[in-house]
Amino acid sequence: MTGGPLVVLVGPMGSGKSTVGALLAERLGAPYRDTDADIVAAEGREISDIFIEDGEEHFRALERDAVAAALAGHEGVLALGGGAILDAGTRALLAGLPVAYLSMDVDEAVRRVGLNTARPLLAVNPRRQWRELMEARRHLYTEVARAVVTTDDRTPEEVAGAVLAALDLKKDA
Ligand code: S3P
Repeated sequence: MTGGPLVVLVGPMGSGKSTVGALLAERLGAPYRDTDADIVAAEGREISDIFIEDGEEHFRALERDAVAAALAGHEGVLALGGGAILDAGTRALLAGLPVAYLSMDVDEAVRRVGLNTARPLLAVNPRRQWRELMEARRHLYTEVARAVVTTDDRTPEEVAGAVLAALDLKKDA
């Protein structure tokens, strides 16, 4: 049993979880981990290939296990893939943890993610897909979050500072 993660970042694709997560890790002097990267490393293939070859359901099962392993074993900053909170078991594991939801509006999302084919869920009509994803997920992000931090018009450094303040963590390690 470990002390658990210092910060868990959730939020949609493109909200800056990886960039902000790395900055937070630096400021806190703690390791950074990303469950998407854990899955890619374990599978030896990209997430877009897992979706294409085995389907989303298979990816979600891999993701559920990767998140549970990371929550149990990581004491630093942890970023979860955008859809991880769809799983009720994952949401239960997140209860009581220092979870920050990085939120952003649709224009910002499309600007940042655009037609990035590495993001299979947004490959076609990103604006509409993103709206639909957020309608299905917004309440789940909010449910698991101890803090909701807006990323619109903020630099990653500003977002990282806002996360530390909102979670009441030390600001200048
Ligand atoms: C997904 C988000 C992605 C990745 C996969 C599915 C989602 O992670 O896990 O493409 O369902 O929102 P990022 O949020 O890190 O891009």
